[in-house]
Order: sequence, then C-alpha cells, then structure tokens
Amino acid sequence: MKSLVYIDACMRKESRTRRIAEPIISKLSERYTITKFVLNELSFEIIKEDLIQQRMYGNYDPQSLSWAKTIRDTDRIVIAAPFWDMSYPSALKNFLELCSIFNVTFKSDDTTCYGNCKAEKLLYITTRGMDISTGDPLEQATPYLKALSWLWGIGPMDVIATQNMDYVSEDEVEKKVQQAIETGLYLVENW
Ligand SMILES: Cc1cc2nc3c(=O)[nH]c(=O)nc-3n(C[C@H](O)[C@H](O)[C@H](O)COP(=O)(O)O)c2cc1C
Repeated sequence: MKSLVYIDACMRKESRTRRIAEPIISKLSERYTITKFVLNELSFEIIKEDLIQQRMYGNYDPQSLSWAKTIRDTDRIVIAAPFWDMSYPSALKNFLELCSIFNVTFKSDDTTCYGNCKAEKLLYITTRGMDISTGDPLEQATPYLKALSWLWGIGPMDVIATQNMDYVSEDEVEKKVQQAIETGLYLVENW
C-alpha cells in the first residue's frame, strides 16, 4: 500500500476544517497507509540561532529528522489548516520549518536548491471566515504552500476551500461543509 502523511493543523476542537478533512482522509485510508501529525498534540520548539547552529554541524534533533524523513518518503500529503491571519496557523509554519532539512526534504547544487521528496500530490484543505477566494492577493496560504512544494519537489497542489464561514447562518455553514466534503471525496477518487 502507498503511504500518505496527513498534517492536521486545525487548532480548535470544533474545527470545521477538520470536519471536512476527516471523511476525505477516511476515504483515502482505503488506498493509503496514513501517518497523522496532529500539531495541537505535538510539542516543538521555534527555530532560533542555537538550532540553526546545531543544524550547521549536522546535529538534527531526532524528532524533526524523523518527521522530515517521513515526509520525504511519503506518496501523498494532505494538510488541513484553517485560514488564520490571512494565511494559516503559525504552528504549521513552525512544523514545516522543522521538517525543511537540507539533504532530507531538499538538496542543493552549486547554483540552487531542488526538491528531494517523493510525493506527487499535495491536498490542502481550508475554511476561511471572510469571503476571500483561493488565489486572492489577500489569501497568503496557498502561495506559501506552493512555494514550499516547489522547494521540496512536491506537486501539484489541489485545494478544497470554503469561504465566508463566519458571515452566514449555521445552516449555510453546514451546507458549505457538506459541499466541501463531497468535492473532496470526488477529487480523491482518482488521487
Ligand atoms: C486566530 C484566528 C484567526 C483568524 N484569522 C482570519 C483571517 O485572517 N481571515 C479570515 O477570513 N478569517 C479568519 N479567521 C476565521 C477562520 O478562518 C474561520 O472561522 C475558519 O472557518 C476557522 O476554521 P476552523 O473551524 O477549522 O477552526 C480566524 C480565526 C481565528 C480563530
């Protein structure tokens, strides 16, 4: 069976983003072995001077090295993250920074960096409070994830997004959640 890494960056217990992601992951688990990283349950440090120095000497903490290798070797990646401060929760950036390890998730030659990950596809699932569409200049999550996918050699990226979640009725929210689940289930049939 092929493998899939699921990064759950949904920080709220009642997360609507997670509600959309879970049936999609459940469907994918019929074809992929899932490794799940729930960022709310992990503890990790911010990358600061000391950690950069350690890394320059080739000293990687075993936890992030193991996460990075899991990401490098997986066939598919799914990220579920709500739209926060026009982007995504900082825990996700922190986690991805820790996993961005030279000679693991990316490599370099004399002129530039290039990707070293196996995953041919990435699925990003999100919900947004305001009425902001994927690709709007105010939406700064997908540009970053696409750029990081390039650095790591992953791609292409599919997006399942709902928007205007905080300005419609509960019924409307529910409809949007159900529609996103349907779209996602359809997408992953051939994914
Ligand atoms: C800390 C925080 C920051 C947010 N920032 C934004 C934002 O910048 N733009 C926006 O449209 N919605 C923002 N929202 C609203 C969320 O995107 C929206 O409620 C989303 O559906 C939450 O997803 P969740 O139910 O999976 O937690 C924010 C919500 C929180 C809790």
